[in-house]
Amino acid sequence: MKVKIIEKIDTMRRLRRRLVEPVGFVPTMGYLHEGHLSLVRVAREENTSVVVSIFVNPTQFGPQEDLTSYPRNTKRDLELLAKETVDVVFIPEASEMYPGSYSTWVEVDRLTQRLEGASRPSHFKGVTTVVAKLFNIIQPTQAYFGQKDAQQIAVIKRMVADLNMNLKIVTAPTVREPDGLAMSSRNSYLNPQERQAAVVLYQALCLAQQLWSQGEKNAPRICQEMINLIQKQPLASIDYISVADAETLNELDTISSPALVSLAVGIGKTRLIDNIVLQ
Ligand code: PAF
Repeated sequence: MKVKIIEKIDTMRRLRRRLVEPVGFVPTMGYLHEGHLSLVRVAREENTSVVVSIFVNPTQFGPQEDLTSYPRNTKRDLELLAKETVDVVFIPEASEMYPGSYSTWVEVDRLTQRLEGASRPSHFKGVTTVVAKLFNIIQPTQAYFGQKDAQQIAVIKRMVADLNMNLKIVTAPTVREPDGLAMSSRNSYLNPQERQAAVVLYQALCLAQQLWSQGEKNAPRICQEMINLIQKQPLASIDYISVADAETLNELDTISSPALVSLAVGIGKTRLIDNIVLQ
């Protein structure tokens, strides 16, 4: 079947009625990489129909962030998706998603206040609002998100449970470059020197994993070792390093339950995030 490219919300809704259940949905902001494609492949395996959205959601970018420079290449994205046997690609216009009269927001409390939420105060309000809108339009049976955005997954799962949304959220593992750097559209901002330096995020996570495997359960000590390692890289500036309960995202002193080790580090002017779960 040829992939259908839909821009209008009404057309998407009409087409949705004809899609055979179950319907898997992969929301993206485009500039697709292997991480996105791995989500599409899992969605393909687990569903009869697959919908992918491409929408650079303006409301999840802060005023000083990279909305205008965010990488875009819809032509290439569509070529990649055609090879994955996707049924529908939904590419709405910002003016239809957020008309001038737009006034409704979906906000998740507490979980959004730490980590990414502390550094990017309005970010999750934009994410949950657009994801709720996309879920309403596409009505998926299951939606697919990458583990790289661990806090985003926790927040979306909370929203789905709290608002009794009728779908399952599926998480797929982070896809990495051969040297361990997590795939991200923002990696395209890195110059060759910065690209080499960026591997320090993964090295710090591997160090945490190693210390924990050797019996270290003290979270602040693990964080300190990660800081020491990252500070040796002159192009890196730490935003946060956290060892938190994987579900509540509350910071841990002693690691007993599954722990989310996450970090945000600037490499030159590019802010990168990554995480692993110790369990
Ligand atoms: O993870 C992303 O790419 C975005 O936050 C999402 C879920 C597509 C919402 O705009």
